[in-house]
Amino acid sequence: MYNLGGRRVLLGVAGSVAAYKAVDLASQLTQMGAQVDVILTKAASRFISPLSFTSVTRRPTYLDMFQASLAEPEVHVQLGREADVLVAAPATASLLARLSLGLAQDLFTLSVLCSSAPLVVCPAMDANMWEHPAVQGHVRTLQERGALLVGPEVGRLASGRVGVGRLAERDTIIGAIRYVLGKRYGDLAATRVVVTAGGTQEPIDPIRYVSNYSSGKMGYAVAEAARDRGAQVTLVTAPTSLPDPYGVTMVRVRTALEMRDAVIQACQHAHALIMAAAVADYRPAQVSSTKIKRGKAEALSITLVHNPDILAETHVFPHLVRVGFAAETEDLVSNARRKLRERSLHLVVANDVTAPGAGFGTDTNKVVLVDAQGEEELPLMTKYEVAWRILDRVASFLRGGQR
Ligand code: PMT
Repeated sequence: MYNLGGRRVLLGVAGSVAAYKAVDLASQLTQMGAQVDVILTKAASRFISPLSFTSVTRRPTYLDMFQASLAEPEVHVQLGREADVLVAAPATASLLARLSLGLAQDLFTLSVLCSSAPLVVCPAMDANMWEHPAVQGHVRTLQERGALLVGPEVGRLASGRVGVGRLAERDTIIGAIRYVLGKRYGDLAATRVVVTAGGTQEPIDPIRYVSNYSSGKMGYAVAEAARDRGAQVTLVTAPTSLPDPYGVTMVRVRTALEMRDAVIQACQHAHALIMAAAVADYRPAQVSSTKIKRGKAEALSITLVHNPDILAETHVFPHLVRVGFAAETEDLVSNARRKLRERSLHLVVANDVTAPGAGFGTDTNKVVLVDAQGEEELPLMTKYEVAWRILDRVASFLRGGQR
């Protein structure tokens, strides 16, 4: 799991029926290693008790400024100054207005005014309110000042109406927090990274294709880890059932030929390419425009032709750090080393796809990192942790480390 490593999150909760969802957000952030300080507005405390937040964060929950001020008169200064990120979730029309105008009438707005940390704003309100020019004006002002707007999403609202106004999903908000923290503190900030994921699908006819078992999990983990370290990430992905990672530019492709074009395009201005996709080495020579019918013949042959070697083609970018994977069922390291040499790569992630807990579809992986210097065998770990270790190597190559 991604670790927030003690980062200070100041969570402002305003008076919305969605306030209860902020408890789950605070809980998840705490479980991810953040120190979460929660401020409830007066209206929020009508919807949800401070005890709920204190129970999950194990920290005091702050209410209105006068109550807090009695014990700690400078609490707004301290909370604002110590925060690594400020999160307003849910943000009502009223809180958006106060934040936009700098109306220091509640402890959260006061603390925001005392802070230089990035602000993530997650509105929740009825669709009519959200669309009102006054609200939109405040949102624009906040965005112009650098705030990151997350949501609101379309769905069923408290009024029973369906429209735009629902608080963004918890994991989307957490993705946004990781994104802004990466930009602020990440070692790959200002780095452009291209990642590929998933198994390409090579059509036979309109309803059938040739593919493989890749779920995309490994590539998505690399994209998320690079995003968490501040990189500007483009994820070229074959079809998967995974949610889009927040803050990552998605390029959806289906076939190896489409992936090749997308990768070449994305690499024009990139610093690193990490190819976790399982690209089909072959595609049907002919694609039938109509469904191939069951015939009388005992067998049906499909002629396959070579797909381009995408990684090899990226050698035209001389300054690009290029990382390939090697999905192997035998001779893991020697095959990986051959791929490293033949494609002139910086690093090959050798993946024994027959090992328990490794390879296709799993949440964990077991790999050997192979480069010109030697081999490093990693223990079984989550795909996110593997991604982090790969990015350590990429960061070192980018700093001018040996190939
Ligand atoms: O997606 P998951 O379910 O999480 O599974 C992860 C994974 C097993 C797919 C992943 O860890 C992995 O090993 N990906 C590479 C799979 C693969 O295609 O390996 P390969 O040995 O066939 O290819 C070697 C490298 O060349 C790969 O980086 C591949 O992206 C690239 N390639 C392959 C063929 C081709 N025509 N062009 C390429 O660039």
